[in-house]
Amino acid sequence: MAPDEAEVTFAKGLEDVIVAKSRITYIDGEIGKLVYLGIPIEEMAKHSTFEETAYLLGHGALPTRQQLDEYSRTLVANRALPDTLLNMMKLFPPTALPMDVLRTAVSALGMLDPNPKDSSKEQNQLRSARLIAQFPTIVAAFARMRQGLEPVAPRADLGHAANFLYMLFGQAPDEFTARVMDVALVLHADHEMNASTFASLVTGSTLSDMYSAITTGVGTLKGPLHGGANEAVVAMLQEIGTVENAEPYVLNALKTKKKIMGFGHRVYHAYDPRARIFKEYARELSQRKNDMTWFQIGEKIEEVMIREVGRKGIFPNVDFYSGIVYHHLGIPTDLYTPIFAIARVAGWIAHVMEYWEDNRIFRPASIYTGPKEAPYVPIEKR
Ligand code: SDX
Repeated sequence: MAPDEAEVTFAKGLEDVIVAKSRITYIDGEIGKLVYLGIPIEEMAKHSTFEETAYLLGHGALPTRQQLDEYSRTLVANRALPDTLLNMMKLFPPTALPMDVLRTAVSALGMLDPNPKDSSKEQNQLRSARLIAQFPTIVAAFARMRQGLEPVAPRADLGHAANFLYMLFGQAPDEFTARVMDVALVLHADHEMNASTFASLVTGSTLSDMYSAITTGVGTLKGPLHGGANEAVVAMLQEIGTVENAEPYVLNALKTKKKIMGFGHRVYHAYDPRARIFKEYARELSQRKNDMTWFQIGEKIEEVMIREVGRKGIFPNVDFYSGIVYHHLGIPTDLYTPIFAIARVAGWIAHVMEYWEDNRIFRPASIYTGPKEAPYVPIEKR
């Protein structure tokens, strides 16, 4: 029988509801701590690369040199897109939203899998490498196509992050730029039971397939309450325009109960540790570009937000300073959320594969608020 409201605990938005056991990522939201397999995110940002992070999340341990080389070679070998997908993408309208393109392309890759009915672990590992390798190629290819340019073929001698920028701009990045991109991907690679990871697990839990699960993840990440917030932050910075406008803008938003994008978090009631790292890169890039305006607006927004609502546990999240970083890398705004997805696909896959080790279909319950009994009234009598 369906539960009655008085008899159950109802957690709107599944707040604090435990839905799985996982060994991958741990967050202590009270002190702003984040670890991948026990390793602090600060250490990962300092020393790791996206390839190594993806291996860590997917295999549960840091790779040896040989394992990392082999994994990196597999990713490189899988970077190119199937011709069928490239031809399909040529038919997409240039005005399409890149997140919609990514979602559709990932779904299409499912149709192009040579063994779609084989759900063995080996096949899924192959699919994982293909998906992680091809996300950047899809995003960069569409970014070129919509400008009427030919996609740039991947370059085998470049790392994952540097190759993405190469495919996007047609020019290999300098070492610092490549490192910033790499760190951004490391920071976004996983984040425990966030909305898009949970959505991927729900799809995976029906034993559908990897592509369906990841397509679900992309669609879920798109929303401005989740991955889409980084694009919304930039729209806000543009609207504010000057440092002087920042304080009145924030105060007015708070007064009218409007959310400031890039602030607040379901789990963190402290400063998101990823935002701290992004902030320092945003500062350094702004200095290098001799253009501090957005960074100063960002700092002012942060100051006012912490003063006004910090006691409620509202601080900058990962999406706040990342936009300023990407802006200074010359990346078009509507690619910011796709870049989040390029990183997060590693986390989605790791969680889906982990969940399949001890799968149970997700099937929660809801509180019925409709009538308990009602007559069927014939249409002519309504
Ligand atoms: C990501 O979950 C993850 O791990 C996600 C993520 C990941 O890596 O996967 O970290 C990535 O999605 C980051 C979040 C990006 N979204 C935004 O920046 C959008 C703006 N922030 C919010 O809308 C909000 O904070 C959420 C969606 C992130 C969290 O929503 P909750 O947990 O449902 O919180 P809530 O909306 O119920 O807010 C609680 C209180 C409210 O005040 P009260 O009514 O209790 O007085 O905090 C206030 C809210 O009004 N509040 C804000 C605010 N966020 C929360 N007030 C002003 N500005 C904000 N941004």
